[in-house]
Amino acid sequence: MITGAATGIGRATALAFAERGDRVTIADIDARAADTAAAIREAGGRAQFIECDVTDRAAVQRVVDGALAAYGALDAAFNNAGVLPKPQPLHEVDAASLNLILDVDLKGVFHCMQAQISHFLESGGGAIVNTASVAGIIADPEMSPYVAAKHAVVGMTKAAAVEYATRNIRVNAIAPGLVETPMTRAWLEDDAFRAAMFQHNISGRAARPEEIAGTVLHLCSDAASFTNGAVFVVDGGHTAH
Ligand SMILES: NC(=O)c1ccc[n+]([C@@H]2O[C@H](COP(=O)([O-])OP(=O)(O)OC[C@H]3O[C@@H](n4cnc5c(N)ncnc54)[C@H](O)[C@@H]3O)[C@@H](O)[C@H]2O)c1
Repeated sequence: MITGAATGIGRATALAFAERGDRVTIADIDARAADTAAAIREAGGRAQFIECDVTDRAAVQRVVDGALAAYGALDAAFNNAGVLPKPQPLHEVDAASLNLILDVDLKGVFHCMQAQISHFLESGGGAIVNTASVAGIIADPEMSPYVAAKHAVVGMTKAAAVEYATRNIRVNAIAPGLVETPMTRAWLEDDAFRAAMFQHNISGRAARPEEIAGTVLHLCSDAASFTNGAVFVVDGGHTAH
């Protein structure tokens, strides 16, 4: 089960899972995610799209039910749907923007974990990967709601890992640095932003979404069987600098 796979990191990861032979259920608020499922099927894989707003707990439960109905099992989940606010100083953030970020980026992940863990407790276990961000570890200016939500994703990941470690459920997070996706396109097309960003970024570039997918596949696999409650930074060395 992958949320937020119409574009970007989620789409690349859905394609990577399918290439490995996994059956993929894609949940997204954007109907273009049906194209991701169609691309997988055209390549000979198995995938379905279920429209879902992750802020709606019942809709998330329908995705878990839909995965089980179509494929008879749910072994791994990538809770990746997210939105990015427009940059603003903290004191100017209005209630609507704050609520949107917290509803999607924080509560959306919480809803997903609740539905997935309830199933894993019955099925015997599974692996969850949540998409945080380097903004879940360090703070960028004018991003306070996003920084708060992504720090919370790291916290929820650890909390769930600690609660369910003995039930064969692993919960980890990834913390990507800057990735070239529709979310960051406007920034990356802005010469002033690029110059400022890449001055301090030791890779001198943004990641391609495919460069994030491998870490998710690893964390969902048996190769990561003793990796739990961890945050995997995938940022080309940005936060190490
Ligand atoms: N692009 C980056 O630089 C970057 C860096 C770190 C973390 N992230 C995180 O990676 C994740 C994926 O982002 P991306 O960069 O691939 O951007 P993206 O905009 O390409 O993908 C976001 C996806 O989430 C979906 N989505 C948004 N709101 C939703 C909702 N309420 N319910 C269901 N689906 C919803 C969108 O339709 C889209 O498919 C996000 O959580 C983002 O915060 C991105």
